[in-house]
Amino acid sequence: MAGNASGLPSKEAADEAKAAEVTSAVASAGDASGSGAGASGGTGAEASSSTAAENLSDYDTIVPRLIVFGGNGYVGSRVCQAGLAMGAAVTSVSRSGRPRNLTGAWLDSVEWVQGDALDPQAPWRGMLKGAAGVVSTLGTFGSNALMYRVCGEANMNVMDVAAEAGVPRFAFISVHDYKFPAGWRAQDFLLRGYFQGKRDAEAHMAAVYPTGGVALRPGFIYGTRAVGTTQVHLGWVGAPLKAALSILPTRSLANIPIVGAGFVPPVSVEAVGKAAASAALDPSIPPGTMDVWQIGKFA
Ligand SMILES: NC(=O)c1ccc[n+]([C@@H]2O[C@H](COP(=O)([O-])OP(=O)(O)OC[C@H]3O[C@@H](n4cnc5c(N)ncnc54)[C@H](OP(=O)(O)O)[C@@H]3O)[C@@H](O)[C@H]2O)c1
Repeated sequence: MAGNASGLPSKEAADEAKAAEVTSAVASAGDASGSGAGASGGTGAEASSSTAAENLSDYDTIVPRLIVFGGNGYVGSRVCQAGLAMGAAVTSVSRSGRPRNLTGAWLDSVEWVQGDALDPQAPWRGMLKGAAGVVSTLGTFGSNALMYRVCGEANMNVMDVAAEAGVPRFAFISVHDYKFPAGWRAQDFLLRGYFQGKRDAEAHMAAVYPTGGVALRPGFIYGTRAVGTTQVHLGWVGAPLKAALSILPTRSLANIPIVGAGFVPPVSVEAVGKAAASAALDPSIPPGTMDVWQIGKFA
């Protein structure tokens, strides 16, 4: 069977093999009955193609499919790699498709689809059917309206379409819940559209995916980030900071209003990628929020 760079069979090869298996089973059944064309009166070709079509989704039970929105981004590219390492067939959906600023054999193992998560027609809806899970890494910075549209509305749109398509699990990259005094929240004054969008998308996911939705809440994500053709090594800051904070009781210190933000441990982009792919593929991971300390365990 033809494979891809990850060693997995390609969908086309699996489908062909399944169709051949079904065709041969139908032919044997026809031979056994002595009717050739089958008792239904249809042709053997009709019988085998309709049975094969019904069985094409068997591919989804052999190789789980993971759909990553924003798989070409900083976090999304690590989600794709983690999904491949877990044996999934991975598809990325983003406006620009295959990234030009990343390298590696893994790029050839991902199916790169161009699509806008905000497109009301959701032309990518068809590919969600039969998928084991979706990860959304959609997010952006800019005006409050733009941030709300991408961090909030785009994520909610993908959740709705995935739920309609029957995808059982959904993970999305939210953000840490920073503490402020007197009940204030980050979205009340800081990057309002960004934080409000994330919190609204979390609430929406709890309603649409009550048993299979996980919101990951990282703080600072360190690693190597491609900015144009330049690689920016955020690990030079993040890894030592994480090590320094590891000797402190960060869970309680992070609850101190305002200054607590300085005690939220950074997490590596690889850990976020693994945590998100696992949340979308592993039904034993409970629904709800996954905080920085839980994400850190995937490092
Ligand atoms: N980086 C951090 O330190 C950090 C910390 C906490 C939380 N987060 C969250 O983690 C997530 C990922 O962050 P990141 O740093 O990986 O961001 P990123 O590199 O900018 O990736 C975001 C991806 O979303 C895609 N995208 C944006 N709008 C889209 C749309 N309308 N339709 C389809 N695709 C769209 C972009 O691809 P195209 O441009 O090709 O569409 C891009 O690949 C974000 O939600 C962010 O808020 C990040």
